[in-house]
Amino acid sequence: MRDETIIDQVLRRHPRMLQDANRRATEPWFAADKHSHERFKFEARLTADILTSFRGRRYGGIGLEPIDFALKDVSFFTLKETTLIKASESVADYESIIRKHAMYFINELIEKAAIFEDFDKRDLLKIIFDNHLLGADIALCNIAGEKLPVSIFSARMAPRAMYAKGFYQQHTSAPMKSVLELGGGFGRCLRDCLTINPIETAYYVDLPLNVGLAATYLEACFPNRVNLVWDETDDVIAGKINVVTPWLIDKIDEPIDLMINFLSLHHMLQETMDYYFGNFICPKVKFLYHENRLVPRHTYEGEGSLLNVPDRAQFSIHAGPEKVANYALPNADGTPFLIAKVVAEFMVNEAF
Ligand SMILES: C[S@@+](CC[C@H](N)C(=O)[O-])C[C@H]1O[C@@H](n2cnc3c(N)ncnc32)[C@H](O)[C@@H]1O
Repeated sequence: MRDETIIDQVLRRHPRMLQDANRRATEPWFAADKHSHERFKFEARLTADILTSFRGRRYGGIGLEPIDFALKDVSFFTLKETTLIKASESVADYESIIRKHAMYFINELIEKAAIFEDFDKRDLLKIIFDNHLLGADIALCNIAGEKLPVSIFSARMAPRAMYAKGFYQQHTSAPMKSVLELGGGFGRCLRDCLTINPIETAYYVDLPLNVGLAATYLEACFPNRVNLVWDETDDVIAGKINVVTPWLIDKIDEPIDLMINFLSLHHMLQETMDYYFGNFICPKVKFLYHENRLVPRHTYEGEGSLLNVPDRAQFSIHAGPEKVANYALPNADGTPFLIAKVVAEFMVNEAF
């Protein structure tokens, strides 16, 4: 009998995992009784079709933004969470539009890489490369004499893995053997970290919908490496990419060399931020590279403030790259509001 594929496992185990997620959602990893964000992830169904071909879909909360489809915000946000966009079918010369945007981000990446003398520039080609069925639409781009498949998304995300590795190398000569991403969308940044570092064991932790999509995506990128940790009876396995639900995060019982988190901690309640720091990051994570707002976006959304996390004092904090300028969004009453800026930080845990 053939081994069950990850897609088969995800489809078979997803309904039970959703039940557990809903039963435990008021625990501090989500504190569901105190806010309303990300609720659809606790109900969303997964199908073989979605898992094998979510490229080009507007799939809510997995990190793909209007820019990744070269679409204007308005057309993106009015679409249902799981709508198939397929802008490629309705926009003339779509590939050249994708290529133009992707090249913009690639040129930026090359400029940014100059600050890391030790960073192997060939790694940049590996992290912009995008050839799977999952993710945003791609275009062939001429780079370093090769035609590489690149998406706007892969080019736009690439600096994250570069900064994470660059800062890591500046702070330690120890090889990066383990990595964890919390709130990783569908897993692209974890894939990038795994592609350019000698990582043996990896962990991906996210909400229900995401752990299904990421398990599929990461298995497509790294065949036979994904291990689902979705149930009390599942074990974390050394040498694997362990896709772990947040309520089972205590199963991770070894120090993590590097944790990454992008645009994710800042959406959480203060209680949830404090929980992740107090129970997991402080005792287990040596280095954390993150890009998040340090203060809430709006007062009414319930987001916490990373500045108020008590355990922040346990870290020495090094500035990361300057992020894009603030932009204005209207307040609930329509008055203009300057959104807090995303800040990049490389945090060194002084307890190690
Ligand atoms: C805005 S998305 C960002 C995704 C990706 N990091 C990126 O930058 O493209 C926020 C991510 O955080 C995850 N997330 C939100 N609350 C979470 C929680 N309490 N525990 C774990 N993950 C959470 C979401 O499911 C989602 O993957």
